[in-house]
Amino acid sequence: MPIDLQVGQAIATITINEPERLNALDIAGLEELLARVQEISVRNDVRVVILTGAGERAFVAGADIRAMASFDAEQGSTFGRLGHAVTRAIELMPQPVIAAVNGFALGGGCELALACDIRHASQNAVFAQPEVSLGIPPGWGGSQRLARAIGPGMAAELIYSGRRVKADEALRIGLVNAVHPLVELLPNVVGLASTIAANSPAKIRESKRLLALVQSDLESGLAAEERAFIASFPTADQREGMNAFLEKRTARFADVE
Ligand code: COA
Repeated sequence: MPIDLQVGQAIATITINEPERLNALDIAGLEELLARVQEISVRNDVRVVILTGAGERAFVAGADIRAMASFDAEQGSTFGRLGHAVTRAIELMPQPVIAAVNGFALGGGCELALACDIRHASQNAVFAQPEVSLGIPPGWGGSQRLARAIGPGMAAELIYSGRRVKADEALRIGLVNAVHPLVELLPNVVGLASTIAANSPAKIRESKRLLALVQSDLESGLAAEERAFIASFPTADQREGMNAFLEKRTARFADVE
């Protein structure tokens, strides 16, 4: 299954590219996606990652139901482990990851978007966790990440009902940060990625690690943030960033060593 990768101007774009099947992911697709994510994770010249789907209808319409329908226990286990490995690998990418949700983000598609740091959607985007309507629970982290993104009450409603959420509601409940006309989605996301890419990659990576602690223990998160802040003085990035501000110029930050 084609998973395209394009890198330019410090921004990597991963595109799940099988629009005729609405970018539904099978085992081969997940393996390919994992390989791309691992490849980019170790590239220090990549400062921001964008994840999107090809075509005008779907981000990812979910796990491949046709394939799943006849899975035996072993295949189900392989698929579940792989889905978790992919979403966790995305979540743990050192670079910020922005989901550009260009249509259906159903089941595994919604879960892929939830593994990203930031979600922007097109006006035609539709989200859902319809797994229970297929006789399975969410399987690629949806039960955990949806509740953390939109709160346990709304997550419970969406997971239990499987109902679809259009872009305007997704914005209202905090599932996405912004909604754009479809043709303006990628330009807007690239613009945001460029803004992020101009900032200190080392400190963004550190901030991403700190933000991850929000999900565990607040006290150890605050202590880690205090340590990281103190350790920034003095560093090359701190000097460059503050001097650039004072000199009214754009800061130029080095790649992570
Ligand atoms: N798995 C496998 N194939 C899928 C798929 C999925 N999750 N989602 C869509 N497809 C395939 C369809 O089977 C169809 O293939 P075909 O042309 O060979 O029949 C093609 O993609 C186009 O989808 P289709 O259903 O004809 O388009 P539609 O506009 O009528 O409906 C959806 C679009 C997304 C609403 C519908 O495809 C759907 O409900 N898909 C399943 C979504 C889902 O439950 N995902 C969670 C899985 S855990």
